[in-house]
Amino acid sequence: MLPLRRVLIILIIFKTSLSHLEINYMTLPTHKQKLLEIDLELIGNLERFVNKLQEKIDTLQRLADEIRQPLIEAEGREEEYLGNPLNSFPLLRHLYSDWDLLEEFIANQVGQEQIDFLKEKLSELPLPKDLSAATEAIYRIELAYGVKPFDLAKGLIDGVQYDAKLSSLDCYVMATHHFRLGDYAKASQWLTVALSLMNPSDMKINSVFKYQRTDVGLMLARCFLEMGSEREARYVLSKEVNMTTEEIDVKIKQLQLVGDDSYQHQKYVPDHLLPEGFNAICQSSHKPKPTKHLYCRYNTTTTPFLRLAPFRMEELSLNPYMVAYHNVLSDEEIRQLNRMSAPLLKKAFPVSAVDIDYDVRTVDTAWFPNSETPHTKENDRLIKRIVNIVSDLTGLNADVADSFQAVRYGFGGHYSPHHDYFNESIHQTAVNGDRLATVLFYLNTVKHGGATVFPLLNLKVPAEKGKVLFWYNLDGESLDFDENTEHGVCPVVDGIKLVLASWINEWDQMFIKPNYRPRKQSC
Ligand SMILES: *[C@@H]1O[C@H](CO)[C@@H](O)[C@H](O)[C@H]1NC(C)=O
Ligand SMILES: *[C@@H]1O[C@H](CO)[C@@H](O)[C@H](O)[C@H]1NC(C)=O
Ligand SMILES: *[C@@H]1O[C@H](CO)[C@@H](O)[C@H](O)[C@H]1NC(C)=O
Repeated sequence: MLPLRRVLIILIIFKTSLSHLEINYMTLPTHKQKLLEIDLELIGNLERFVNKLQEKIDTLQRLADEIRQPLIEAEGREEEYLGNPLNSFPLLRHLYSDWDLLEEFIANQVGQEQIDFLKEKLSELPLPKDLSAATEAIYRIELAYGVKPFDLAKGLIDGVQYDAKLSSLDCYVMATHHFRLGDYAKASQWLTVALSLMNPSDMKINSVFKYQRTDVGLMLARCFLEMGSEREARYVLSKEVNMTTEEIDVKIKQLQLVGDDSYQHQKYVPDHLLPEGFNAICQSSHKPKPTKHLYCRYNTTTTPFLRLAPFRMEELSLNPYMVAYHNVLSDEEIRQLNRMSAPLLKKAFPVSAVDIDYDVRTVDTAWFPNSETPHTKENDRLIKRIVNIVSDLTGLNADVADSFQAVRYGFGGHYSPHHDYFNESIHQTAVNGDRLATVLFYLNTVKHGGATVFPLLNLKVPAEKGKVLFWYNLDGESLDFDENTEHGVCPVVDGIKLVLASWINEWDQMFIKPNYRPRKQSC
């Protein structure tokens, strides 16, 4: 964890304690569930409104029919009809009083109750920052997995076909996002998909949402202009916006003007983009390089404990030394860990931290155990067991390790490439030395995405339940910072990712000479 990030997170925890609403649609499945619930509620309300409206329509239709009936009978014999006082009296009475009352009835708002309900619910709907977090998440998935807008719109992500798709309006929102970032090529692709998904029959519905084909056409023309293709811009204006040549001339001038002032400084360079080399490893097409000198075996030597309970060990890299152990924690232990960390993670959400960038919103972190963790026998035993596992697997002294950090990655959650060592003099490094080694416990299997990637090693470690990943951040001999340990997390596509991280400090190893290059042996 980078110090900056840590400061951010402390800030978030502080801010959160001040706010009442704690809703995170990105990382909390129960909150995401809320979205469905509130939508269902609103749909029910809309249907009740439709029924009320229908009742009124039925009444009005019956009224119109009834009022017309005598006139139909009178047709062709009007004089005779009006000669009869039993006809002219009702007609006069009716004209005198009925239309007046009908006016009142027509003007009377139908379904005021439903309208009030909707108004009241508006305050519970997602906020602009929720939408931008979700947009950014899709954007990151698009970039990291190299997904084309057309494929993403029909639910195809990195070789997995999902049973879901995007609407024309969804694509337009994605286009707008790219447009703001100044990526006109991608924006124009999204706009083209948006146009292709727009059915003429949806026109009335789209107009409710103030979404028109001309909006898409205008932005597309603007993209072409920005990309220096006036010819294509003109084509779009005539085809999609139905403009005449004169109108197009005016519009082009206008667009070019806008391009010059207000627009340019809207452009910002996103600093959260994952580097291309990193993304390439995230993708399913990535081929790991053949591992020549690496072994897979049961590690039984470090401590008596391991002789009793050997774990399947997989060497992932020799330099820096990195190994993965499989099936280390039992399902029950993992469930218990989740129970312990969930309440802490829930609090880590940055609700009032409007100015904090989105990627923090998609990742919750919490140090634990902390003062709020109940000291039950099971909890204490589990913590002790994890500390023991850390020292057993690493052969290092983990007695005074940092407390653990639980991390939950939500929808599109990622971690940009970083090093775990601090390489600076802060309180922690003064007391404990720097972070010699990192131990990561994977608490669930992520169906799609969420792998830990070491770009400089061309290495991808998928998130698999029960796996423990261990590596040295400092070079074994010289204790120099090992820059090759740079790592990050690919955006989570499906589900969430849960890990527990632990760092082993330099000074704690004073009296241990770790001999961590094991003898070779095959599986
Ligand atoms: C443009 O004109 C065509 C043909 O008259 C019509 O079908 C289409 O809906 C119009 N498009 C817009 C954006 O007005
Ligand atoms: C550690 O920090 C120093 C001083 O800021 C810098 O020169 C050096 O490159 C850093 N080392 C690593 C491995 O990041
Ligand atoms: C077992 O793992 C520990 C830590 O990685 C290491 O020190 C020890 O040498 C390993 N033993 C074998 C046989 O791999």
